[in-house]
Amino acid sequence: MLKIGHRGARGYEPENTLSSFQKAIDLQVDAIELDVHLSSDGELMVIHDETVDRTTNGKGEVNKFTKAELQHFSIEGNNKIPTLVEVFDLVDRHCFINIELKTFETAAKVVQLIEKYISEKNWEYSDFLVSSFNWDALEEIDFINPKIPTAVLTETDLDKALAFAKIIQAKAINPDFQLLNLENVKKLQENGFDVYPWTVNEASDIKRMQSLNVNGIISDFPDRIYFKP
Ligand code: G3P
Ligand code: CA
Repeated sequence: MLKIGHRGARGYEPENTLSSFQKAIDLQVDAIELDVHLSSDGELMVIHDETVDRTTNGKGEVNKFTKAELQHFSIEGNNKIPTLVEVFDLVDRHCFINIELKTFETAAKVVQLIEKYISEKNWEYSDFLVSSFNWDALEEIDFINPKIPTAVLTETDLDKALAFAKIIQAKAINPDFQLLNLENVKKLQENGFDVYPWTVNEASDIKRMQSLNVNGIISDFPDRIYFKP
């Protein structure tokens, strides 16, 4: 069962920052999860929302600013919005990286970057998992390079997610944890998919997910995930 740090270790450090990813690595996660948007000059930026308002001291839409402008905004604790490249370099294969595409436009750029790290830095496809609620974006990933592992995100309909996961031959289905029970987890797994629910923070919920034998848990507090032998 994999321990996946949501937006790094969001329970301890500002989400989607290098501090948060470093904290997750220190907590010995198997993977970090992060969110990407494009800047106006085409850089992949690691930030959850469409705007910088909630997480930085700036105001406005991410895709209206250049990378340099975005990195001028401050995040608490002396942090700034990282680029995806900066996160790859920090992680340096200490764990795998679950990249959540927040827009369709990020898909082709993410493929390019993954291919660059594989061809130039000897990374492997298993160092990556690309997920999205935007299934067109996942279809695009599969169309450009079907070797890239993908995960279908859903917060509503597991059967639809299963049908789509079969079409793109995804590696995993990542549902809202509240959708899951013993029966549907088993069904997804029998169809060949890993199940990585999010965002599981309370000890009782973590225990319940463990009792369902999910393949991994995405949590703001990855150190709360420990497993029976
Ligand atoms: O990838 C799982 C989870 O992060 C999806 O929801 O809103 O936290 O990006 P959100
Ligand atoms: Ca996310």
